[in-house]
Amino acid sequence: MRTRPLKVALLGCGVVGSEVARIMTTHAADLAARIGAPVELAGVAVRRPDRVRAGIDPSLVTTDATALVKRGDIDVVVEVIGGIEPARTLITTAFQHGASVVSANKALIAQDGAALHAAAEEQGRDLYYEAAVAGAIPLIRPLRESMAGDKVNRVLGIVNGTTNFILDKMDTTGAGYQEALDEATALGYAEADPTADVEGFDAAAKAAILSGIAFHSRVLLDDVYREGMTEVTAADFASAKEMGCTIKLLAICERAADGGSVTARVHPAMIPLTHPLASVRGAYNAVFVESEAAGQLMFYGPGAGGSPTASAVLGDLVAVCRNRLAGATGPGDSAYAALPVSPMGEVVTRYHISLDVADKPGVLAQVATVFAEHGVSIDTVRQQGKDGEASLVVVTHRASDASLSGVVEALRGLDTVRGVASIMRVEGE
Ligand SMILES: NC(=O)c1ccc[n+]([C@@H]2O[C@H](COP(=O)([O-])OP(=O)(O)OC[C@H]3O[C@@H](n4cnc5c(N)ncnc54)[C@H](OP(=O)(O)O)[C@@H]3O)[C@@H](O)[C@H]2O)c1
Repeated sequence: MRTRPLKVALLGCGVVGSEVARIMTTHAADLAARIGAPVELAGVAVRRPDRVRAGIDPSLVTTDATALVKRGDIDVVVEVIGGIEPARTLITTAFQHGASVVSANKALIAQDGAALHAAAEEQGRDLYYEAAVAGAIPLIRPLRESMAGDKVNRVLGIVNGTTNFILDKMDTTGAGYQEALDEATALGYAEADPTADVEGFDAAAKAAILSGIAFHSRVLLDDVYREGMTEVTAADFASAKEMGCTIKLLAICERAADGGSVTARVHPAMIPLTHPLASVRGAYNAVFVESEAAGQLMFYGPGAGGSPTASAVLGDLVAVCRNRLAGATGPGDSAYAALPVSPMGEVVTRYHISLDVADKPGVLAQVATVFAEHGVSIDTVRQQGKDGEASLVVVTHRASDASLSGVVEALRGLDTVRGVASIMRVEGE
C-alpha cells in the first residue's frame, strides 16, 4: 500500500458533508485498504467557521473554498455545498488545479453536467455524482457501467422522498394534501419551503440526469416536462383505489417506440398496486429500469439523509481515488446517441379523467363523442349521480398527450360538463 496519503478537500460540512467527514475518519483504515493508500482530509470549506463541528479538526476549517481548491496538492474535491454558484466555479477551478471531483449536487449536474464533464475530460480528471440521484441507492454507476452493454428503454422512478412521504400518508390515512404536508414538515421530511419537492423541480433535475445516462443523450432540465403534486386530492386516491391503483409522483424517462427520440417527465400518476413501485412507502425512493436484455430491474433504498447520501459520496470517493492511483479516469460523459427530446404532446399513455357533469340523459353519449372525435379510445366509464349533478370517471386506452389535451379542451366547452375535476395519467401497466 502507498503510504503517502491522497488529499481530500471537503466543500460543505452540513447534513451530508459532516457525515462524509465522520465516515472518512471512523473508517479510515478500511478505506485505505480498499483504495490502496490512506485518504487525508486536507481542508473543510464552510460558510460559518465558528460553528461547532464534532469530529472536525478546527485547523482544517476555512471559509476560503477557492484557496482550498487552488492549493495544488488536493487529489479529490468533494462538493457538498449544493446550488449552482459558487459550486460550479469551485468544481471547474478544482479541475484546473489537478483535482478530481465528487459531487452530490443534482441541480448543478442537471443544469451544467455537459460543461463540467468537458472540463473534467480536458484536464484528465474524474467527475462522479452517484449521490445526486436517489441518495444512497446505487443507480448512476449501474446505469453507466453495469448496463453499458444493454439498451435501456424506460426508467420509472420515485426519486423524491418528501413527495412520496406525503402521497403515502394521503393513501394510507385518507388525509388531504395540506394535512400530509404539515406532518411531513413536522417530522423533518419537508423543508420550510417545500416548493422544490412538491412542484417536482427536484425530481425533474434527477430525471434529466437519469435520461442522459440511460439513453446516452443530452437531456437538459428544460427538456423535462414537469407537474407538481399539490393538486392531488383525497378524492383522487379514492378513485385510484377503485381502479386497484395508488398515486405516486413519478420521474419517467422513455425511449420512443421507434427508438428515434426520448421523453422525460415528472408528474403524479396512478400505478397499479401490483407494480413494484406501488409498495414504496414513506420517504423511500425506488427506480424501476426496463432494458432490452436484462428485462426489469428495481433499485430501492433511502433517497436522502446525511448518512445514506454520504454512503454514495464515499463510494465515489473510493472509486475516484483508485482511478487516481492507477493514473486513469473512470467512464465519463456519454451523449454519443444524441437522441432528440420529444415534447410532452407526443408522450403516449393512459388517462383517468374525472368530470362533474349534469345528471341528465344524453350526457354520457355527448362526452363519448368528444373522445371519439379526438381519436382517444375509452376503456371504462363510471357514473354516479345525485341531485341533478353527477360525476363521470373515464379511463382511456393509450393515447397521446396532445390528443388528450384536445379532449379536455372540448369537454370544457360542453355546457353539460360543469368542470374537469382531475386528470391523472395511468402508468406502469
Ligand atoms: N441532505 C440530503 O439528504 C441530500 C441528499 C442527496 C443529495 N444532497 C445534496 O448534497 C448537497 C449538500 O446538501 P446538504 O443537505 O448537506 O446541505 P446543507 O446541510 O445545507 O450543507 C451545506 C454546507 O455547505 C456550506 N456552504 C454553503 N455555502 C458555502 C460557501 N459559499 N462556501 C463554503 N461552504 C458553503 C455550509 O456551511 P455552514 O455549515 O457554515 O452553513 C454547509 O456546511 C446538495 O447538493 C444536496 O442537493 C443532499
